[in-house]
Amino acid sequence: MTENPVTIRMGEGGEAVGVSFWARVGGRPTFERLVRQFYVGVAADPVLRPMYPEDDLEGAIQRLTGFLEQYWGGPGTYSEQRGHPRLRMRHNPFKVNPDARDRWLLHMRAAVDTLALSPLDDATLWDYLDRAAHAMVNTFDE
Ligand code: HEM
Repeated sequence: MTENPVTIRMGEGGEAVGVSFWARVGGRPTFERLVRQFYVGVAADPVLRPMYPEDDLEGAIQRLTGFLEQYWGGPGTYSEQRGHPRLRMRHNPFKVNPDARDRWLLHMRAAVDTLALSPLDDATLWDYLDRAAHAMVNTFDE
């Protein structure tokens, strides 16, 4: 065998190259599990559920899964289908006040817990979701 058994994590220009967060935590199945679990919470939430399409939670599941996969270094299918994320703009039609944000985060936290990621991966993912949810608030109206 002439194959070099050593894997050097370095790009052509010498930059560090590692697998993406997306790949490290298990790729598509992990993100689908996360989002499906999240929507179990949303479906039972009296404030959040009415904001989502009445009979198309499946579409919402696919959009959020695709977005998160793309954000974390997975396939870019989300933008191929939906264009630039422009998330704040896309949330404008919805009343995202601190109560809605906290409910969103509550269901997301429960969903992240089911993944049982390593402490570092958990913290990495959670830090992003928590900041993104705070950035999505578009009204302080009750
Ligand atoms: C803070 C509370 C939040 C609320 C109440 C909320 C609510 C909603 C609602 C009602 C939709 C429409 C459902 C649909 O796709 O048909 C939506 C879409 C979406 N949300 Fe949120 N969201 C929140 C935070 C976030 C955060 C933090 C992210 C990203 C990390 C996010 C990512 C998305 C994405 C990717 C879509 C689909 C956009 C599209 O392509 O149309 N949301 N959200």
